[in-house]
Amino acid sequence: MDAHRTARPRFTARGTNLALLAALLLAYLSGAASEAVGAPGGWWVTSAHGAAALLVVAVLPAKRRVVVRGLRRARATRGLSLVLAGLLVATLLTGLASVTGLVRTVASLGILWLHVAAALVAVPLLVWHALARPARLRRTDLSRRTALRAGALGAVSVAGLGGSELLVAGLGLPGATRRFTGSVEVPTPTPTSWLDDRAPAVDGATWRLRVVDAEGTRRLSLAELAGLATTRRATLDCTSGWYSEQEWTGVSLATLLPDVGTARSLLVHSATGYSVRLPVTDLGGLLLATSVAGEPLGALHGYPARLVAPGRRGFWWVKWVDRLELSATPAWWRSPFPLT
Ligand code: HEM
Repeated sequence: MDAHRTARPRFTARGTNLALLAALLLAYLSGAASEAVGAPGGWWVTSAHGAAALLVVAVLPAKRRVVVRGLRRARATRGLSLVLAGLLVATLLTGLASVTGLVRTVASLGILWLHVAAALVAVPLLVWHALARPARLRRTDLSRRTALRAGALGAVSVAGLGGSELLVAGLGLPGATRRFTGSVEVPTPTPTSWLDDRAPAVDGATWRLRVVDAEGTRRLSLAELAGLATTRRATLDCTSGWYSEQEWTGVSLATLLPDVGTARSLLVHSATGYSVRLPVTDLGGLLLATSVAGEPLGALHGYPARLVAPGRRGFWWVKWVDRLELSATPAWWRSPFPLT
């Protein structure tokens, strides 16, 4: 057996870069999926993200060796690579801070908001880095040995996830009380918006809700809605990392739209232009709320009316609703996350 064969490193630079790229792709995909999860049955998606994220951590020691060697070459683009490394380390640290609950805000910004922001800002640099330093997959990579290594890394990350949850719970860290989405409880809903929605000035006396179905358009006043009101308890869970369970009072959408006919979806439109499309089968569970905890909605909370969509994340809970419209458009005909 010659000296060269026994000295081969455990993880080649190419193997390390491929493993890290795969782990990051899993972390991004599961992270994005976790933003869409609002019902308790989806708890495993956030856990899968935790495991994928710990896979990134497991590859870091090997990647550090690659980085140190790379930095010795003093490439012109070294600065960009260091910015990317910084963003990914910030993503990891804010993710871990969120799970432990040891840091909840930085400069009054929620830790999960910062986590997702750092992850998203890193995307263009990550794409550039992967294209500028291509780690090509070879046929020989698709071996039993690679499968065993991937399996071992996967097992380490799942064990790491279990271990970190036990540690957080065992030490009684604040993160132990977080929801399956990673969000933490707040006493009253925080006035956040999906992108940059601003509260429109609405005069409650002249405001009318437009309800559009096969029969045409009806316009309902606040007083008419009050006459149909009912109260429900529901949890608003915002993707920026907080949740609040409240008593919402308003009108069931099944009451406002008793006959859906052949419609396939409901468009819920806001005075800001923001809108979501929901399947008509959801109508019975949806409420158009005009008050929360017994008080009329505040301007920043969607006055005069907002959607209450139990089991869905906050970006579905449209604020400042001005129109409900049944439509033949299928409910899946929308972008995964609202773009306006
Ligand atoms: C769109 C992108 C992403 C979203 C929406 C996202 C979202 C989340 C959420 C909601 C949590 C909290 C999970 C919980 O409380 O159990 C979390 C944790 C975490 N995330 Fe992300 N994440 C994203 C991308 C990433 C990326 C790219 C990385 C790795 C570089 C990462 C690393 C982590 C880590 C290390 C944790 C803590 C995991 C644990 O200990 O359970 N995330 N992320």
